[in-house]
Amino acid sequence: MEINQYLSEYLDWNNSFKTLDKAYDAGLFVLIIGPKGTGKTSLVRDFAKRKNANLESINFSLRTRESHLIGTKTLTNGTVSFDEGLLIKSMREGSMLYLDEINSAEADVLLRLDEALDDRRQIVLKESTGEVVQAKDSWFVIATINPLTHSGTKELPPQLLSRFPVRISLEYPPENVELEIVKKYISGQHDSELNQGIKLANTLRQAAAVEELFYAPSLRETIAFGKLLDKNVPAKDAAMIVFGNVYTQWGNIEYQKVSDIITSMFGR
Ligand SMILES: Nc1ncnc2c1ncn2[C@@H]1O[C@H](COP(=O)(O)OP(=O)(O)O)[C@@H](O)[C@H]1O
Ligand SMILES: [Mg+2]
Repeated sequence: MEINQYLSEYLDWNNSFKTLDKAYDAGLFVLIIGPKGTGKTSLVRDFAKRKNANLESINFSLRTRESHLIGTKTLTNGTVSFDEGLLIKSMREGSMLYLDEINSAEADVLLRLDEALDDRRQIVLKESTGEVVQAKDSWFVIATINPLTHSGTKELPPQLLSRFPVRISLEYPPENVELEIVKKYISGQHDSELNQGIKLANTLRQAAAVEELFYAPSLRETIAFGKLLDKNVPAKDAAMIVFGNVYTQWGNIEYQKVSDIITSMFGR
C-alpha cells in the first residue's frame, strides 16, 4: 500500500500545481479539461494531499441524481432524518470537492450545483428543513470535463462554466515525459521497448484525432504495456495485447490497420 502511494505521485510536467496553488489561494474554482487517462484524477488527489485537505469525490454519469449531491431522507426507528450528500458535507466541512466528469451529468443535477457554486457559496436545503447551508471559507472545488468528442459528454451550460474561471488543459505528454511517467510504475529496464510503445500510442492517438481510428490509448495503456514488459512478455506481444486487440471491437479492417502498424514497429 505504501509503495503504491509513493508510485502514484504526480509528475508535474506542465506546472499544474502552480496554477492550482494560485487558484486555491485566490479562492477560485478550477476546471481541468482533457481526454481520459491524462492524469486529471492523479493530479487532484496529489494536490489535495499537498494541501492536507480532505478530498470528497463525485464521479458524474447520467445516473447521478440530485440526491447524491444534496442527500436523501431516511427512516430509522420511525423517525425521518436527512442523510446529507457529498456537496452539502463538503460545504459544511470546508473540504476539497472533486467533481469528476461533470459534463456527463443531467441538466437538473447541474442546476443544483450552480446554486452552490455561485459567489454566495450557499445552498437552500429545500429537500429537508429549508436551512441555508453556507460553505466554510476553506471549501474548494475542482471539476473535470472530457473533450466533447467523448461519447456521453455534453457541453457545460455557459453559466456553470463561468463558476470555474481557472482552467487547466491537460493533453497527452511529450514522449520523453511519458517515458518518465511510465517508469514510475515499473521496475525493469526496458527503455527502448517503452519508447517504441509510447511512439505507437502516439501514432494511434494522432490517427484517432483525425478520425482514422475509433480509439486513442491513454497513459493507462502505456503503463500497462510497461507492466507486461516487467513480467517478461515480449514487446510485440505486449503491444498486441494492450494496444492492438481492443480494435477488433470495431471490426476486422480497423484491427488490421493497427496490427499492421504494430508489425511495422515491432517486427513479425
Ligand atoms: N503526470 C503524471 N504523473 C504520474 N502518473 C500519471 C501522470 N499522468 C498520468 N498518470 C497515471 O496514468 C494513469 C491515468 O491517470 P488518471 O489520473 O486516472 O487520468 P484521468 O483522471 O485523466 O483519466 C494513472 O495510473 C496515473 O497515475
Ligand atoms: Mg479520472
